[in-house]
Parts: sequence; structure tokens; C-alpha cells
Amino acid sequence: MQVWTIDHFNVTKVQKSRDAGASLRFVPRVFTNTNIQHYHWRGSQPNNALEASPIGVLCTLVQTDAMHLQMPFDRRDKQYNALPHKRTFRDNARMPTPTTITRANCAALDAEDSLRACRERFDIPGKTIYLDGNSLGALPRLTAARVDEVVREQWGSTLIGAWNKRAWATLPTRVGGKLARLLGARDDEVIAADSTSVNIFKLLAGALAFTDVTTRRVILSERGNFPTDIYIAEGLNAMLGRKYTIKLVEPHEIESALDADVAVALISQVDYCTGHMHDMARLNARAKRVGTRIVWDLSHSAGAVPLALNQDGAELAVGCGYKYLNGGPGAPAYVYVAKALQANFANPLSGWFGHRAPFAFEGSYAPAPGIERLLCGTPSVIALSALECGIDTFANTSMQALRIKSLALTDLFRALVEQECGDFSFTCVTPIEPEQRGSHLSFAHEHAYAIMQAIIERGVIGDFRQPNLMRVGFTPLYVRFVDCWDAISILREVMLSGAWKAEKYHQRNAVT
Ligand SMILES: Cc1ncc(COP(=O)(O)O)c(C=O)c1O
Repeated sequence: MQVWTIDHFNVTKVQKSRDAGASLRFVPRVFTNTNIQHYHWRGSQPNNALEASPIGVLCTLVQTDAMHLQMPFDRRDKQYNALPHKRTFRDNARMPTPTTITRANCAALDAEDSLRACRERFDIPGKTIYLDGNSLGALPRLTAARVDEVVREQWGSTLIGAWNKRAWATLPTRVGGKLARLLGARDDEVIAADSTSVNIFKLLAGALAFTDVTTRRVILSERGNFPTDIYIAEGLNAMLGRKYTIKLVEPHEIESALDADVAVALISQVDYCTGHMHDMARLNARAKRVGTRIVWDLSHSAGAVPLALNQDGAELAVGCGYKYLNGGPGAPAYVYVAKALQANFANPLSGWFGHRAPFAFEGSYAPAPGIERLLCGTPSVIALSALECGIDTFANTSMQALRIKSLALTDLFRALVEQECGDFSFTCVTPIEPEQRGSHLSFAHEHAYAIMQAIIERGVIGDFRQPNLMRVGFTPLYVRFVDCWDAISILREVMLSGAWKAEKYHQRNAVT
């Protein structure tokens, strides 16, 4: 395979190897925050190129150009070698200008999308373009009926007997087991319970109990981490007599900051604002080398990016059930504790549902042997039932397929912002590289709040994050490629007309 990165004025051969008999395939990817257009050439069998590379998904947009540009490797090599310094590649190769993306191109991508039927698993109102599944997932079609059944039949008719007859008591482990498959964990390593904030408290306290405070005095996190993560660390530290220093660093400093002073690190894999994604395997390896532990917050990664907690050496993790997992507002969160740690893991919230025998009503606490020890009080049966429906929306899909679509959606959206709204000063703050981002994009703009309110009123739902970010999330189960086009048309119209300037769009709501 041969991969070239080409911009308007330079050609860089970034990787070269031979695939006998392979033909070149033109796969464009428009990087929108640099004003430079990069193109990736991949010599590969066409289908492999599509499947192996998320970048390839957009290639259908320029299939015609691809035909013109196919040529044998040798000629391409010669052409590359003959390039005079500082002459444009386009001049030399007579490369056509990039194809303008049309709505029809987007509709064609939807027609080819193997996941398009998954949208039917959700109730999405009318013409709404829902780009906020990273904050609150859309309503799965089965949830209302299931909640109704749990309330009327199970609770209403079976009353307290449903704890046994309808297996209410095992809902946290059953739902956790289903979720484990999306996390790359064993079924008995994940349990659904409480909120993410509460679960962070449990894991931080449990992780600190493993360490020696005389040698490790730092709780490490990121300056831009979701506030609750930092608040919980602060509260716990206060409770422990402020024995620790809470050290907050920038995302790029986190790896070097993982050192022998760190008692525990609390890291969001995907940043809630910028969408930046950490390399989990790499940071876990580093933590292991320096003898510390990481508590991962997976709120913006579970259900959005493929996870392999076991394979990547993760020991402790938490995350929200109401975002990409579609569990409903305030859905229970989840906790992951690697099997090897469970037997000695002390849950500081030693409530009766984490006891080895809750209904023995013993006089003193003794933890359950496995992941059940991470429970505290009575499980929220109705909410867990709704969360189960949310997780069931992933049935017969793979996280790899979802990831390919998610990257294609975000690439497309970004390219369309550049194409249609290039004059309106939106700056994408989300990293370009696929391995460094999750499934949402954030655009900085001076009037981000008002613009977002104006497009929300026109049916494009994203959200606003401080200080100046318009955030749009792409849930590949239900977001379509034409949604990207339609959302951008509305954004363009709001910008061209200046509609966002209306007073009403500047009033801050309590929840943004
Ligand atoms: C990264 C992250 N962690 C934690 C939370 C909050 O979790 P909870 O309200 O369930 O405690 C959020 C909410 O958006 C989040 O984005």
C-alpha cells in the first residue's frame, strides 16, 4: 500500500510499500481547520480501502475524479520524483479541484450506509436534526413500552414479588453485562448503578486505598476535565484531610505527568468540550510502568468509539448511561473494575446492596465477592429497564462499523462547514486525526450561544459549552449524512440572514 499526503504546495511521501497489482484510489479528506486541503492516496483493493480506512468513506463523493486519477504506481512514483521543488502537485498531476459536496452526495452515502436501518430503533420527532446524542441520547422506540410494562405489569400487578419473579435484583449485573460487550470487558466486570459522579467517588477512594500516601501524594487530572470529576476529587481530598495535591495539567502533558508521585489519575478518554481522545492503551502502559492507576471517565466514549478495556490494560472506569447509550435523562451510570482488582477493592459507599448477602441482614458489612460490591443502595428498577433498552439499540451492530460511520459523519460535517460556512469564522477545535477524536465536534465562535439557539429553534439540536463552543454530536445509530447537509444549510441561512442577532437568542437558559 502506498499513502501520500498532499497539500496545495507540497507533496510528502509519508509511507511507501508495495501491494503487487494494486491500483491507486483517490480518497479525499478535507481538513477544515487548516485551510489546507490534504488528500490521501491509497493504493489498495478498493473494497479494502473502504473498509480498512474510515477516511475512505468519503471517497464515494469523488468517485468520478478517482477514475481519472487511477494510474500505475511507477508512473506516479516518477511523477513524484520529478516534482520540481515548490511547484504545486496540482500543476504536475493536473489534479482536479476538489469536488463540491452536494446534498445528493450525502443522500448517496445514506443509501450505501449499512447502518441506516438502525435509525428505525429510535423515535426522533418530525424534521428534527438531532446532533446532541452525546449529551442526551434519543428515545429508543422500545423504551416507552418497556417502562410502561415495568410500571403497570411488574410493579402494578406483581408488586414486591417482582424483585424475585421479574429478576429486579439482578438488573444491575444484567445491564452491566450487556454494556461490557461495548466496552471490551468481561460480563462480570461491569455493573450499572448510581450516577457517574457517585461512581467516580467510589473508584477514586478505592484506588487511593491501594496506595501509600507517604510516597504518592498527587491526584492527577486535566484542567479541562468535566467539572464533576474535579469537584468529586476535591470533595474526597477534603474528606481525607487534604492529604493529596490535586494536580491539573493540559491533555498533552498528562502522559509525562503520570509519574511516581501520582496516587491516582482521573482522565476522561474523550474530552467533553474539544472531543480530543486519549490513547488509552498508551496511558495505561505508562501508569503501569510508574506503579499508579487510572480511573477512566468513558462518558463520551462508550457507545461512540470502540473500546477494549481488557486488552488496553484498563483497571477502573466509569461513565454515563444517558449519552451514547440512550438510557434516558438521568439514566444510571456504570462502573468497571478489572477482575484482578475486584477481590481487594474497597467501595467506600458500603451500602447493603454491595454486601455479600443483603437479605441476611448481618450486623456488619462484608462485601460481595465480585463486581456487585460496587453497588450501594437499592437499584433504580425503572431507570435500569430504560437503560437496558438503550443498550439494546446496539444489537447486531459492531463498534467498528459505528466508528467508521461516525468518522465519516464528522469528516463530512467539518468539510461542509468549510464549504458552506467558510466565511463565518467558525474554528473547529476538535483534533483532525481520527485516533485523537471521539464522535462530536466543537466549533469556537464569538456568538456561539446565540447561533446555537437560533439553529435549535429551526430544528437543528446541538448545544453550547463555555466559553464559546458550539458542540455537535454524531450518534451513528441515527444520524444521517443528509442531516449534516441540512444542518449546515440551516446554519448558513442563520448566518447569512443574521437571524442569530435577535434578542431572544441571547437569553441564557438554565441548562445549555
Ligand atoms: C465526562 C463527564 N463525566 C461526568 C458527567 C456527569 O455525570 P453525572 O451527572 O451522571 O454524575 C458528565 C456529564 O455530562 C460528563 O460529560
